[in-house]
Amino acid sequence: MSEKKATITLQPGGRSWDFDVLSGTEGPDAIDIRKLYSEAGVFTYDPGFLSTASCHSAITYIDGNEGILRYRGYPIEQLAEKSTFIEVAWLLLYGELPTASQLEEFRNIITHHTMVNEALLRFFEGYHYDAHPMAMMVGVVGSLAGFYHDSLDIHDPRHRDICAHRLIAKTPTIAAACHKHNIGEPTMYPRNDLSYAANFMYMLKGTPCEEYEVDPLAERALDLLFILHADHEQNASTSTVRLAGSSGANPFACVSAGIASLWGPAHGGANEAVLKMLEEIEHAGNIDKYIARAKDKNDPFRLMGFGHRVYKNYDPRARIIREVCHKVLDQLADSNNPLFEAALRLEEVATNDEYFIERKLYPNVDFYSGIIYRALGIPDNMFTVMFAIARTVGWVAHWMEMVSDPEFRIGRPRQIYDGAPKRDYVPLEARS
Ligand code: CMC
Repeated sequence: MSEKKATITLQPGGRSWDFDVLSGTEGPDAIDIRKLYSEAGVFTYDPGFLSTASCHSAITYIDGNEGILRYRGYPIEQLAEKSTFIEVAWLLLYGELPTASQLEEFRNIITHHTMVNEALLRFFEGYHYDAHPMAMMVGVVGSLAGFYHDSLDIHDPRHRDICAHRLIAKTPTIAAACHKHNIGEPTMYPRNDLSYAANFMYMLKGTPCEEYEVDPLAERALDLLFILHADHEQNASTSTVRLAGSSGANPFACVSAGIASLWGPAHGGANEAVLKMLEEIEHAGNIDKYIARAKDKNDPFRLMGFGHRVYKNYDPRARIIREVCHKVLDQLADSNNPLFEAALRLEEVATNDEYFIERKLYPNVDFYSGIIYRALGIPDNMFTVMFAIARTVGWVAHWMEMVSDPEFRIGRPRQIYDGAPKRDYVPLEARS
C-alpha cells in the first residue's frame, strides 16, 4: 500500500484545500484527490487518463522513459529467459515465484481444466463460418459464466481461484475452437501430456486424422510470447476488466469485456494490422511513402506497431521479440523473410526520422510479434487472439487484486457537460 508522503495545497475557486501526496514503491507520486468534489465542488478533467491513477496495484511496474517492465518486481528480461508462462501466471496471480510443489500443483490444475462443456462447443454453430475469431472469443468466453453458477461468489476467495483457473485453462481451448470453426475442421480435445503452449498449438494445428507433433522451437517461442504479453498494468483492456468488475460482475463477463477492448487496432488489434501494413510496404517496396503518410496530419494512417502511451523509449518486449524473430526465422530456414526485412528497414528509417524522434515513437510489442506468429503457421486473424490468451492471466490477476482491495468501489467517472441548457419540450406540429 502506498504511503502519504506530503500534502499539497490546491486553490480551486480561491479557497485553499489540502490534499495528500501518495508515493508507491516506485514511480511518480500521486495527488489523492478523492475528496476534491465533496469538499471543493470541482472535478478534474483528464480524457484518456493521461495523468490519473485509478487504483493501487502490486502486479506490474513500468517505467516508460527508461523502457522498464517488471512483473511483481522481476525484470521481464529475466522472466523471458528463465521462466515459463505457467510459472509467470502463478507469479502474477499470487505475487511470488511458486515453490516446486506449488508450480506442479498449479500446472496440474490448469492442465486438468482445459476441456470445455460440450454444450459450449455447440455455440460455434451459431457463428458464420468466416466470423472473426475475436468476435467469437467475446461471446464464448463470456458465456462460460452460464456453466459455473456454483462458483461465482466474487467475495469467496476459493471461488475467485476456481474462476481464475477455469479462465486460464479454457481460453486456449476456446481460441483454438474459433480457428477450427473458421476452417471447418473438427475441434480438437486438449492433450494433458503437453505443456500450455504445446497443447494450444496441437489444438490449433492438429487434426484427428494423423499425429501432430509440436515443434519444440514453436513451443518455446509461443511460451515466450505468452510471457511477454501476460500483463501490462492499467492498459485499456485491463482497465475495462476492472471497470466491468467494479460493479460486482462475474469474472467471465469481465474478461469478455477485456477481449472486446483488446480487439481495437490501437491496442491488441495492432499485431494483425502490422502484418497488413508490412505487406503493403513490401509490395509497394516504398517505405518513404508510408513514413510520409504516417506523418501527414490529414491522413488517418499511423505506423502500426509504433508508439505507446507509456513507453517513450524502446518497448522492452519489442526488443526481446525482435531477437526471437531472428532465431525463429533462422531456424526455420526463412532468414530472408521479406516481411522481417521490411520491418527492420522500417524501424531503421522511422527511428532516425525527426517526426518519430521528437514524439519518442519506438516499435512496441506488436511490431514483430505477427512475423513470428506467421512463421509458426498461426493465421493472421488469430494474432489478437494469441494476445488475449496470454493477457487473460493479467486480466484475472487484476480482477482478483481489485475484488480483494478494501478501497474497491464501483468505477464511475464524471464528465463536463457540454450539452444544451434546460429547454422546454416542443410539440411535433410546432417544430420547423
Ligand atoms: N504513427 C504516426 N504517428 C503517431 C503514431 C504512429 N504509430 N503514434 C503516435 N503518433 C503521433 C500522434 O499523431 C501524435 O502526434 P502530434 O503530437 O503531432 O499530434 C503523437 O505521436 C502522440 O500520439 P497520441 O495519439 O497522442 O499518443 P497516445 O498515447 O494517445 O497513443 C497509441 C498511443 C499506441 C494508441 C499510438 O501510438 C498508436 O496509435 N500506435 C499505433 C497502434 C499500435 O501500434 N498499438 C499498439 C500499442 S502496444 C500494444 C498494446 O498495448 O496493445
